[in-house]
Amino acid sequence: MSSLSDSLHEQLPSPVYAREQLAERISELGEWFHNLNLGGVPTAPHHFLGDFPSIKWRQIADAIPLDLTGASVLDVGCNGGFYSIEMKKRGARRVLGIDVDDRYLNQARFASEILGFDIELEKRSVYAAEAIPGQFDYVLFMGVFYHLRYPLFALDRLIKKVGGKLIFQTMVRGSQELQSWHENYPFWNTEIFEQRDFPKMFFIEHSYSNDPTNWWIPNRAAVEAMLRSSGLEIESHPEPETWICRPTAVVRDGQYILDRELEGSL
Ligand SMILES: C[S@@+](CC[C@H](N)C(=O)[O-])C[C@H]1O[C@@H](n2cnc3c(N)ncnc32)[C@H](O)[C@@H]1O
Repeated sequence: MSSLSDSLHEQLPSPVYAREQLAERISELGEWFHNLNLGGVPTAPHHFLGDFPSIKWRQIADAIPLDLTGASVLDVGCNGGFYSIEMKKRGARRVLGIDVDDRYLNQARFASEILGFDIELEKRSVYAAEAIPGQFDYVLFMGVFYHLRYPLFALDRLIKKVGGKLIFQTMVRGSQELQSWHENYPFWNTEIFEQRDFPKMFFIEHSYSNDPTNWWIPNRAAVEAMLRSSGLEIESHPEPETWICRPTAVVRDGQYILDRELEGSL
């Protein structure tokens, strides 16, 4: 058996695998979307977005407290566990990662075991997050919104779980510009719809980026309009695809927006 590399010694609390075993196990777990460094072995070294999601995290990291001691975190669409692990590194007390894909959940399980982080992982859709007891200090809803056929339904439902902040990230296409829009326009004004920066969502009937699960891709104005419309206040926008929000008006007359809409009283 070959000796462990220095980086392996540094990063593997338990269990200890030789580098080759680690590489073999990583490969057995299927193709990874998250590039994690597991004891010196990268899980997705050829990712089409580069060192992903580290490149994105570097832009967001400063917008989230360095010290999350005692915090609870729900990581929706946790994938290989990158963000769940980062939350644990900052001392979060409880991190629950949910995803609908067993491959990704198994990867996240393996990664958290190798890196020695206690992360709860559960197969559960965002649409079923409402049934998770209680609320979380941080809810990460990153890279999932545009994969949903019912994105606002999911957002309005997930909001019930946000006790503190929502970290929201979506693919964005079209205009990145913002302007102030009136609260109302007459029926005969069709010109607003021609403007690139009017809030818009692009509907993908078949596939985008070879992925038939990309359904709705908003422009920046649409993202911000939807977040506000769902009762969230945008606190920061650390990079072009990410918004940090807090719920300020998610309840109207004692009922969540979702419940009012479902009963037809919004
Ligand atoms: C583009 S990846 C984003 C992963 C990670 N959150 C990130 O930002 O890097 C989308 C993830 O959402 C998961 N997903 C798709 N539909 C979902 C749903 N209805 N509920 C929860 N997760 C879902 C996928 O399995 C995948 O892991």
